[in-house]
Amino acid sequence: MSKTAILEIDGKKYEFPLVEGTENEVAIDIKSLRSDTNGVTTLDPGYKNTGSCESAITFLNGEEGILRYRGYAIEDLAEKADFLEVAYLLIFGELPTKDELIKFHNDIKAQSHVDEDVKRIIDGFPKSAHPMGVLSSLTSALVAFNPSSVNVDSEEEMYNAIVKIMAKFPVLTAWAYRKRVGLPLDYGDDSLGYVENFLKMMFKKPNGDYIPKQVIVDALDKLLILHADHEQNCSTSTVRIVGSSHAGLFVSISAGIAALWGPLHGGANQAVIEMLEAIKEDGGDTKKYMAKAKDKDDPFRLMGFGHRVYKNFDPRAKIIKRSADSVLDDLGIDDPVLNIAKGLEKEALEDPYFVDRKLYPNVDFYSGIIYRSLGIPVEMFTPMFALGRLPGWIAQWREMRLRKEPIGRPRQIYIGETLRDFKPVEKR
Ligand code: SDX
Repeated sequence: MSKTAILEIDGKKYEFPLVEGTENEVAIDIKSLRSDTNGVTTLDPGYKNTGSCESAITFLNGEEGILRYRGYAIEDLAEKADFLEVAYLLIFGELPTKDELIKFHNDIKAQSHVDEDVKRIIDGFPKSAHPMGVLSSLTSALVAFNPSSVNVDSEEEMYNAIVKIMAKFPVLTAWAYRKRVGLPLDYGDDSLGYVENFLKMMFKKPNGDYIPKQVIVDALDKLLILHADHEQNCSTSTVRIVGSSHAGLFVSISAGIAALWGPLHGGANQAVIEMLEAIKEDGGDTKKYMAKAKDKDDPFRLMGFGHRVYKNFDPRAKIIKRSADSVLDDLGIDDPVLNIAKGLEKEALEDPYFVDRKLYPNVDFYSGIIYRSLGIPVEMFTPMFALGRLPGWIAQWREMRLRKEPIGRPRQIYIGETLRDFKPVEKR
């Protein structure tokens, strides 16, 4: 393949180098485009065709439905690793040895307290507040209680900030839920595993213990692994661009939580269950909702379907679908919306509208069905996504800072008014 791309503008040719990644992805390096062409830039709303960075963290191939974290297949990691192992892999680049993993977990436990004054912030929220809004606010508030900004060139300072957010985030997530349901804020039990302790912090009643079934711990651990990173998605790009101004790690993650909340992104898992419930209430009439999804005059979209990058089955959806069957079976749950979901998937995969647009089930289509079977309420589905995505956000923020990437500042094409004279108010 040629090593350069030629662009011709007004009869003049410009040459730009081609960049090739380790998985043979090719990009045109246009770093000098504007200066070489005296001001010409590119236009790509939503960055569908634009690479924002070079990254060694996650590789995905949307056409073939491939997803790998640091070179390891998602299928292997979901089956053979646990969430903390995967978090370590994403952040530090290698699977941890047994000693490294024990130290990582112990260092996280040592930081799992949250300043008591944070509880006063939580007291100020109404019970009706959506946990994603609470979580974004509390994560940003962590800066106030941990003021030292992170010196990314100090391995020790960076490590301490990473274990701090890995430790406090599950606490804040559980507290956001407990506030909503009027339960006292609980710290769980540090003798438990990371995911097991999170479940205890969520569900332990003040007057009793809570010991989750292993099938629930395993299912949630797998779901968190499947959500842990996904290269330059909307919320990760948000974390990177906020961090590119050298804003701190915690506040960059707070911005990522806000981006993830949107129903076109992480908020889809809540929207999928609400859609499936609506179809169930409507007598299971999936054809009516398929018609709505295809109607250009109807803003309704089939939530959990389609993806910016996957034009094949989202490999995570395949794993989650298998897991949904076994978890509901293990728990003896017959959830009617699972059958509606499977019926909807079958219809969509045979419908020309969806087939032509390569719209397949994505990670959010089945995850809500499992979350619900684990006893996790629908308003906590997107916070679960955030809990899983946390190590990915950390890894991407750290890589961006260690590579000393420039501050993110896209250009635009101005389409507004050209110069005009000011009119005093009496003459308007
Ligand atoms: C996540 O990027 C990531 O990696 C995200 C994520 C991650 O791990 O971080 O994978 C997590 O966000 C998964 C996606 C969750 N969102 C949803 O399930 C919401 C429903 N899906 C869509 O809104 C949509 O598919 C997007 C937002 C996910 C992707 O939108 P694109 O790539 O911008 O696609 P598009 O809007 O350009 O649509 C292309 C065509 C359009 O029709 P035409 O104009 O060509 O006629 O497909 C149609 C769209 O109308 N279309 C849908 C549809 N998704 C796209 N039509 C009906 N239902 C849908 N869900």
